[in-house]
Amino acid sequence: MSKSSKVQDQVESLREKLRHHEHLYYVLDAPEISDPEYDRLMQELKSLEAAHPELVTPDSPTQRVGGKPKEGFQKLRHSRPMLSLDNAYNEAELRDWDRRVHELAGTKGVAYVCELKLDGLSLALWYRGGALEKGLTRGDGAIGEDVTTNVRTIRSIPLSISASALKKSRLPADFEVRGEVVMPFSSFSRMNDEREQQGLAKFANPRNAAAGTIRTLEPNIVAQRRLDYFAYMALSPDGTEVFDTHSAALAALSGAGLKVNPNHKAARDIDEVLRFINEWEAKRDKLPYEIDGIVIKVDSVRLQRELGYTGKAPRWAIAYKYAARAGETQVEDILIQVGRTGKLTPVAALKPVPIGGTMVSRATLHNQDEIERLGVKIGDWVIVERGGDVIPKVVRVMDDKAHPRGTRKFEMPDRCPECGGHVVRTEGEVDYRCVNAACPAKLRESILHFASRSVMNIEGMGESLVNQLADRKLVTNVADIFELTEEKLLTLERMGTKSAQNVLREIDAAKKLPLERVIFGLGIRMVGERTAEFLAEHFGSMDGLMKATEEELQSVNEVGPRIATSIREFFDEPANIKLIERLRKAGLTFKGEAKQRGTQLAGKSFVITGTLPTYSRDDAKRLIEDAGGRVSGSVSKKTDYVLAGADAGSKLDKAKELGVNTIDEKELLRMLKG
Ligand code: IVH
Repeated sequence: MSKSSKVQDQVESLREKLRHHEHLYYVLDAPEISDPEYDRLMQELKSLEAAHPELVTPDSPTQRVGGKPKEGFQKLRHSRPMLSLDNAYNEAELRDWDRRVHELAGTKGVAYVCELKLDGLSLALWYRGGALEKGLTRGDGAIGEDVTTNVRTIRSIPLSISASALKKSRLPADFEVRGEVVMPFSSFSRMNDEREQQGLAKFANPRNAAAGTIRTLEPNIVAQRRLDYFAYMALSPDGTEVFDTHSAALAALSGAGLKVNPNHKAARDIDEVLRFINEWEAKRDKLPYEIDGIVIKVDSVRLQRELGYTGKAPRWAIAYKYAARAGETQVEDILIQVGRTGKLTPVAALKPVPIGGTMVSRATLHNQDEIERLGVKIGDWVIVERGGDVIPKVVRVMDDKAHPRGTRKFEMPDRCPECGGHVVRTEGEVDYRCVNAACPAKLRESILHFASRSVMNIEGMGESLVNQLADRKLVTNVADIFELTEEKLLTLERMGTKSAQNVLREIDAAKKLPLERVIFGLGIRMVGERTAEFLAEHFGSMDGLMKATEEELQSVNEVGPRIATSIREFFDEPANIKLIERLRKAGLTFKGEAKQRGTQLAGKSFVITGTLPTYSRDDAKRLIEDAGGRVSGSVSKKTDYVLAGADAGSKLDKAKELGVNTIDEKELLRMLKG
């Protein structure tokens, strides 16, 4: 065998293995190898592909991110309209629908399939020759948006389906899948935490977050947000059904490697359907993603055709909508919670009310603006809603004879309820903050953050331990954690030798975590996990970061003027420097791997537009950044160069209008050579 075909075989076999393990992990939720083992296989494939770029194919597992990002999304017509569903809100409406189906079908027995109604957004996937060719949003139903680059980053969507899997599942090589993109609660809360840290508005629910994510112009961000996809329809390219029954379509999709939600069931009549509906209403809280009802579909495709469509929805399917998990109760008080950054969050203390099986006695009111928008007063009766693990929130104030209005207006205090420190509201910001650096509430929250899984990962250092450590003044800042001893820990309640030793071992292990974790752990305002990574990579050491000017900070990926100011302010505070020096002494990681950047393009800002002849836009961005330049998304008077490729659009026009220099790829390469 020649050397090159041997490499090709090796590459193919690695791809097969990776696809197999991705399917086990992302589709079946049943991994057989550890994450490091998976990473090792991926790394091996990446190195081989780097050495033999001619072997890279678009469906290689290495190619999920890296397609060229689009400046906007192209519009494409669906093979057949993506319709919505009619709704039934109670048993009577559902039985009415069942009766109509029987009348129209003229038969006695109609078999149904019940599925969860996933609360996300619908997405069509076009496979050509077994390879994923396009991902389209619903759009207006007739015309969708081409979001392929983003869709490729969703791990439960296979980039290709092997000929043997197609054959086995009896799917044609060209076919279309329709299904729902969802954001699991875990990804949703992580993303909102990060957005809060960065001073960005939080998404209200996982559906909005999924919809916002799929339309992001940055595939890297989509990849991090961990969306999931469930398939529920298989169509031929002309929009007709591939199989005779809906249940056969689900089985085939699953057999071909797509993720089909396992919680679906055949039902012989409407009573069985109702049982499924009731069963899942009780269990919906246990799901890791949001559902808002159950979809009931006629199983036979022949019968589906006979029943046909009304204007906007099929007659052969219906959505049974669960009532929003809401409750009515009275606001007994409005309290203040002080967060890690000193942010004061108003929280309604409620007369306890059961909502969806849980007693709710607190609901967030977010901020002063929200209180004003709702017009809520202490004593008011309110509607409270709860979705999955999302914190309950007050959605509306009731105002009728049975629910008289409250009278006590809430005032944001000018002193922190925890420490008496000054409370300020910075111009232009929504939030009020306690400015006392030694505020005990801030301390507790900052220690909890520091010890949390995504920062120092100190298992065992949860709320009850942190409260005790803070109350006894054993820990007054995060550096004190590293001076804890067995004797000190043993003075606490419910702490035995064994647990104390475990905690100390965890603390010791934290010292080996990389620089970006330490930076993230400092709790600098607006510096989230991702920004901490960019900072560590850019400066390569804590010392480099501490010395950086605001201007230098702004040359870091995704660091704008507000974040730069916040970082500089943090390091200008002597108390913070003292703390950092103690962390250094304790042996935490203060050095990372700086990316060696050149200086050929130092201080120059670029905007990239259009398709470049040889480099992808991501690669060009990297080249520019590695040479000390900066790439931003929009053209302004401050832009030094617009790097334009084929089909450059409005950005090129703007550059011409503003008189900004336009260069091509060749010119960039010449500049890089210096
Ligand atoms: S079938 C023509 N099945 O609900 C019928 N839809 O309100 C196509 N949805 O736009 C839809 N889970 O985005 C179907 N198991 C499921 C679903 C589902 C969620 C969404 C879908 C659709 C919307 C209709």
